[in-house]
Amino acid sequence: MTQTQDSPASSLDWNDALLWLPEIETGSVRAAIFDPPYAVGTPVRGKEDGAAGSVFGPLSFMSRTLREVSRTLMPGGIVAIFADWRRMADLAYVASTVGLRPSTQIAWVRRRPGTGGMLRAAWDPILICARGVPDAIDRAAIRNVVEADYPTKRDHPYGKPVAVYEHFLARVVRPGDLVIDPFAGSSASREAAESLGAVWRGCDIDPKYATTTTEGRLL
Ligand SMILES: C[S@@+](CC[C@H](N)C(=O)[O-])C[C@H]1O[C@@H](n2cnc3c(N)ncnc32)[C@H](O)[C@@H]1O
Repeated sequence: MTQTQDSPASSLDWNDALLWLPEIETGSVRAAIFDPPYAVGTPVRGKEDGAAGSVFGPLSFMSRTLREVSRTLMPGGIVAIFADWRRMADLAYVASTVGLRPSTQIAWVRRRPGTGGMLRAAWDPILICARGVPDAIDRAAIRNVVEADYPTKRDHPYGKPVAVYEHFLARVVRPGDLVIDPFAGSSASREAAESLGAVWRGCDIDPKYATTTTEGRLL
């Protein structure tokens, strides 16, 4: 992507999403990724992300962060909510309480299951919500199924394939748009957003993932 001096560069911050999101201007974001940790405050095996099955992180945290994400969206902007199917119904409700309108649900199907054993489903729902009606680039029908396997080696336990982000970002993101990811993890969404000419801003609370910062920040 070519960047002029007028367009701010993409950046990744080491911060808590609840502190970082208020820095994003109201109504400035075309698309947001919302892929929060599954067990905030109740880590399993000492991991922030709560591997080993706990998907029931505090709803108040989801609510506060999603309200902030909603505030940042421009009219027609979208947020893609990732969650285990056991949690998605709650998140859809939370979305409706913070001014978001459910638009569609995508099934992300993969051949190889993640952690969790033989009965772990090899698919996850992605709920697309919008501020009003999504401002789509065109109205052509798309399959609400994206098939993308995890790469064989992953740096992040929950890093999604770039193709998953591309599937829906390509429908709404124009060059120069702002895409945010407050729980950036592997930053896979950055590659997808930048390939569409967007400016990407992300944040992660874990310095292992947030290895670069904007000026004056931690590290
Ligand atoms: C499910 S993962 C995100 C994976 C990411 N979407 C990807 O494709 O790589 C959740 C991430 O949220 C981070 N996290 C946990 N609590 C956070 C908080 N309060 N603020 C910001 N990031 C947080 C974790 O370190 C983890 O990397």
